Amino acid sequence: MVEAVADIGLIGLAVMGQNLILNMNDHGYTVCAFNRTTSKVDDFLNGAAKGTNIVGAHSVEELCAKLKRPRKVMLLVKAGAAVDAFIQQLLPHLEEGDIIIDGGNSHFPDSIRRCKELEEKGILFVGSGVSGGEEGARYGPSLMPGGNPKAWPHIKNIFQDIAAKAPDGAPCCEWVGESGAGHYVKMVHNGIEYGDMQLICEVYQIMKEGLGMTHEEMANTFEEWNKHELDSFLIEITRDILKFKDTDGTPLVEKILDTAGQKGTGKWTGIDSLDRGIPVTLIGEAVYSRCLSSLKDERVRASKILAGPKDVKFQGDKKKFIDQLGQALYAAKIVSYAQGFMLMRQAGKDYNWKLNFAGIALMWRGGCIIRSVFLGKIKDAYTNNPELENLLFDPFFQKATADAQDSWRSVLADAIKMGIPTPALSTALNFYDGLRHEKLPANLLQAQRDYFGAHTYELLDAPGKHVHTNWTGKGGDVSASTYDA
Ligand code: 6PG
Repeated sequence: MVEAVADIGLIGLAVMGQNLILNMNDHGYTVCAFNRTTSKVDDFLNGAAKGTNIVGAHSVEELCAKLKRPRKVMLLVKAGAAVDAFIQQLLPHLEEGDIIIDGGNSHFPDSIRRCKELEEKGILFVGSGVSGGEEGARYGPSLMPGGNPKAWPHIKNIFQDIAAKAPDGAPCCEWVGESGAGHYVKMVHNGIEYGDMQLICEVYQIMKEGLGMTHEEMANTFEEWNKHELDSFLIEITRDILKFKDTDGTPLVEKILDTAGQKGTGKWTGIDSLDRGIPVTLIGEAVYSRCLSSLKDERVRASKILAGPKDVKFQGDKKKFIDQLGQALYAAKIVSYAQGFMLMRQAGKDYNWKLNFAGIALMWRGGCIIRSVFLGKIKDAYTNNPELENLLFDPFFQKATADAQDSWRSVLADAIKMGIPTPALSTALNFYDGLRHEKLPANLLQAQRDYFGAHTYELLDAPGKHVHTNWTGKGGDVSASTYDA
């Protein structure tokens, strides 16, 4: 009879899995490790796990036998079919009330489905976002668990103990919500990550092409920005990357092929925002920018035949421009987060998830890729007003964008004149200007729709009543049936 010694089991011994196990072990939990290729279990036990309390298993059955009740099994395997396959293998060895946690980057509809299917079998499913890369997993990730709420009391201590801590000591891990809420919030986190990275890349291109700054100058600017409101992990690593020299003494970054990869979480966010009708334009542009970057051959051909402005060097006060660039980056980042929270707000309504936005900001405050000082301000905004309609309406962010907007406009005007692409910085300003316009030209659009398709429109002074006009005198008076996409 195998003794149930372990507090939790973990399947998947790639680097994230191994590091999470070591992290749990550091916090006094006994973990049982399993991997499909079982030689990896032995390698781990004889390597990084040597001298610890970590135990191993060579089959799913043995793993389940070694777990204390209720059993807790965490999967750190490739999202998709592998998750379903392991769930099927686990089921015969689990009993009612046991818990399966999926810590991969799973698509949230899969987590919704798994949560429901497992609940019918009496098994409690948790889909948890895990952010922070290898280092985060080892020393403190941001964890975003959601799923069957009955599981939370059983995993809360482990999760909050191993999670990163915000500067005030609060763990960067809270219960996100039911069903697929954890993976949904992780998806939006990743979308925002795409946006932050794209914004920084646009700033780098303006600095390099427009201002002709050296890598040292660029790195120093990011270093300076990292001391103030832009203080964040991504600004910090950008500084380090710009400083990094290859063996020949030149910056390594310039030798890297300019085509961006992507695993799909940013794309999921973009598609989800379209489905929900929420204008998450910045993440959309960030995804499309990666797509455009990968059309390298076509861009090489275009660079030889498509005209751009003649004078492409900035002529004004460079120092002032760099300050303005920092302001533009900050303002665009605020808009990106405002859009991300708008999307989560809508998803919360659609799925009846009681998302705690201050808690989400706190979870992202430390440990994850988008960690920043700025998230502390977002947490404050939602703590002051949990029902906040839009992050931009919070007095702090309202003032921050008001203070930055002149610089933002000026930077973009110069970038456009210089012919430097700024899709994310620009879309953020366009969204900001769109949002603050009481009246948009959609009245004309409605007239066009009614003109060519009898789609009807509403009048300003009689909303709700659909009217059709015979604009040409030739068409009939019959309107098309109304529907909203
Ligand atoms: C994290 C990251 C991580 C993500 C990678 C790669 O929070 O630790 O979001 O989960 O998978 O950053 O993403 P892309 O390959 O799509 O850039």
